Amino acid sequence: MEFNIKSGSPEKQRTACVVVGVFEPRRLSPAAQKLDEATGGALSTLVRRGDMEGKLGQTLLFHGHSDVLCDRILLIGCGRERDLSDKQYRQIMATAAKTLNETGSMEAVYYLTELPVKGRDLMWRIRTAVEATRHSLYRFEQFKSNKDTARRPLRKVILTISNRRDLTDGEKAIRVGQALAEGMKQTRNLGNLPGNVCTPSYLADQAHSLASINPKLDVEVLEEKDMEKLGMGSLLSVARGSRQPAKLITMNYQGGEKGDKPIVLVGKGVTFDSGGISIKPGAAMDEMKYDMCGAASVFGTMTAITELQLPVNVVALVPATENLPDGDASKPGDIVTSMSGQTIEILNTDAEGRLILCDALSYAERYDPAVVIDIATLTGACVIALGNHATGLISNHHPLANDLLQAGKATGDRAWELPLWDEYEEQLDSNFADMANIGGREGGAITAGAFLSKFTKKYHWAHLDIAGTAWLSGKQKGATGRPVPLLVQYILDKCKH
Ligand code: BES
Ligand code: MN
Ligand code: ZN
Repeated sequence: MEFNIKSGSPEKQRTACVVVGVFEPRRLSPAAQKLDEATGGALSTLVRRGDMEGKLGQTLLFHGHSDVLCDRILLIGCGRERDLSDKQYRQIMATAAKTLNETGSMEAVYYLTELPVKGRDLMWRIRTAVEATRHSLYRFEQFKSNKDTARRPLRKVILTISNRRDLTDGEKAIRVGQALAEGMKQTRNLGNLPGNVCTPSYLADQAHSLASINPKLDVEVLEEKDMEKLGMGSLLSVARGSRQPAKLITMNYQGGEKGDKPIVLVGKGVTFDSGGISIKPGAAMDEMKYDMCGAASVFGTMTAITELQLPVNVVALVPATENLPDGDASKPGDIVTSMSGQTIEILNTDAEGRLILCDALSYAERYDPAVVIDIATLTGACVIALGNHATGLISNHHPLANDLLQAGKATGDRAWELPLWDEYEEQLDSNFADMANIGGREGGAITAGAFLSKFTKKYHWAHLDIAGTAWLSGKQKGATGRPVPLLVQYILDKCKH
C-alpha cells in the first residue's frame, strides 16, 4: 500500500475521497469546517440534523458535491476531542481504512493527521497512521479457497500536513511506518502459519530469503551436528522428541561501523509446543503453533531495520525446534548439560523454551554484544500476571530495562518490569543437578527469567515474555505483530546516539 504526504486545502483535492474528522458532540474538525464553508454548510447541516454525532467508530459517507473536487467525503467520528488517546487514534485509522476499502475508494486524502492526540507530535501521528492503517487491513487467507478481498481495495493514502516545512520529516515518518508495518506483517504471517508448514527448516529458509535481498545481511544455519560440537545439550534435548531437525539460525546485519558492538536479539522458535512427555491438555493446544512468535518478532524486526538500512549492527539468533513426545524424547528427571557447562534437571518437559534459549544465550557471547534481548512466549504465568496487555520484562541492567520500557510506551507496545531477585533463583534448586528447569507455580514468569539469568552473566541482558501479547485467542485468533514496534523503536533510539 502506498502512502504520500502533501499540504493543501481539502476542498481542492481531486481524489476519490477526502477523509475528515468530527468530534463528539457534533463538532467539525478544522478540515471539516473548511469543506463545510466550501459547500455552503452541507456538512454542518448533516451534523445538525443528527446524521453524525461524532462518536468514535461512527462514519458517514457523503457523495459528490458540486463545490468540491473530490468524488466523496468521508466523515469519521473521533469521540471527544480532549481525550483523544493513542488507542482512539488507531481506531480512527482502522475505521477509515475499513470503510474506504468497502466503499470502492482506491485512493483517499486524509485530514486525520491533524487530530490532536494527547502527548503526541505530528511525526508520531504520521508514522502511526501508516502502521495502524496497514495493521487494520491485514488478512491471513493463504489457506482459504474463497478469499475475502475487496473488489476495489484502498491502494493509496495521501496524508496531509498544514505546514510545508514538515514535508521532509513527514516523508521520513512514512518510511518508518511502512518499515514497521512490513515487519509486523511478516511477524504475523509467520506466527499464523500452521506447525506443519512453519517448521524449523521453514524458518531457516526464511532467513536465507531475507539475506538474498539484503547485501548487509549474512545468514548462517547450524545443524544438530554443529550444535553437538558446541555442547548444546540443553537445546538438543528438546529436539530429541521431534522428527524435524532443529536449527540454530543466525542473521547478522551489519549496518554500523565494523567495531560497533551489536545488539543481539534471541527469539524462541518452538514451531509447535505439545509439552513433550509432560504433555499439555488438549484444549486450545493448536495455539501452541504460536510458540515461535519470539522468533517471528526477530524476523520482523530484521525486516524493518534492513528496509530502513539503519546504521547499526544487529545479530538475530533463533533456536528453532518442535517440542513433541516420542520414544526418544526427554523424560522428566533427565539431566542434561548446557553449552555453559551447567547441568539442568528437566522436571517438566513443557518448560522447553528456557532449555533452548539458554544455549542460544551462551552462544551469543561470541558476538561481544552491546546488549542481548531475548523474546519468548515463555510462560502461561506471565499471561496470568499481566494479561494480554503488557509484555513481561526482566533484566540484569537498569538502563537497558528503562530503554525498552520507554520504547514500549512510545509505540503503544508496552512492557512491564518484573523483579529479578535472588529469592526467585532459589526456587530452581535441584537435588541432582546445578538447577531444575522449573521453579514451582508461584512467580512462574519470574523463575523462568531467573533461569535464563544464569546464562547471561557476561553481558547486559533483557528478557521479554510475550506469552500474553504475541497473539489473540477466540474469535479474533491471530498473531498481533508484537513486540516488533517496541524492538524497532529501541533500535531506532540507539541509532540516534
Ligand atoms: N509455550 C509455553 C508457554 C505458554 C503457555 C505461552 C500458554 C502461552 C500460553 C511454555 O513452553 C510452557 O509450556 N511453559 C510452562 C512452564 C511450566 C511447565 C513451568 C507453562 O507456562 O505452563
Ligand atoms: Mn512448553
Ligand atoms: Zn513453549
